[in-house]
Amino acid sequence: MAVVTNTENGVAVTNDDEVRALLNTVDVEYERWDLSRVAADATADEVLSAYSDEIDAMKRRCGFVTADVIDITPEVPGLETMLAKFDKEHTHSDDEVRFIIGGRGIFFLRGMEGQVLSVEVVPGDLIRVPRGTTHWFTLCTERRIRAIRWFQDPAGWSPNYTWSGVDREFEPLCFGPAYFGTLAQKTISL
Ligand SMILES: [Fe+2]
Repeated sequence: MAVVTNTENGVAVTNDDEVRALLNTVDVEYERWDLSRVAADATADEVLSAYSDEIDAMKRRCGFVTADVIDITPEVPGLETMLAKFDKEHTHSDDEVRFIIGGRGIFFLRGMEGQVLSVEVVPGDLIRVPRGTTHWFTLCTERRIRAIRWFQDPAGWSPNYTWSGVDREFEPLCFGPAYFGTLAQKTISL
């Protein structure tokens, strides 16, 4: 389960219904998907095959043309340069949909009234950030995440930066595996 924090008052929620309700205030959808069909060391092709029905359904629903598996570890060359692309406030012309299968990270979502929610996503979380939503993303200290991504543009991830600088006002606060219980602890290592 995700941890969603209202950065104005520091109140955090983890209950599925409360997570959904809080994310709905910024028009973001949240689901939990079953992780048991893939092993922690499954290849990208095995992951895409295991979730092919759900991947295709999401393509039909949102107009996506492709999906892939992003796999970030501390060993990825140029990791900090890559993260510096994600952690500046931006929007996309398509929905940003991620199904987390390993590791964890934080989405910051900025609503129409300027409110900022921080969303720590963990394995089993699926999040859909609608096109045009201002947001940014960063990793927790262990620098690991693995996720299925969907795209409308075959070229892949394409940001429109706002250059608002608001992203510099928020420190990523990760609650950590102990917060999430046994399942997350088992799947957190890639
Ligand atoms: Fe994004």
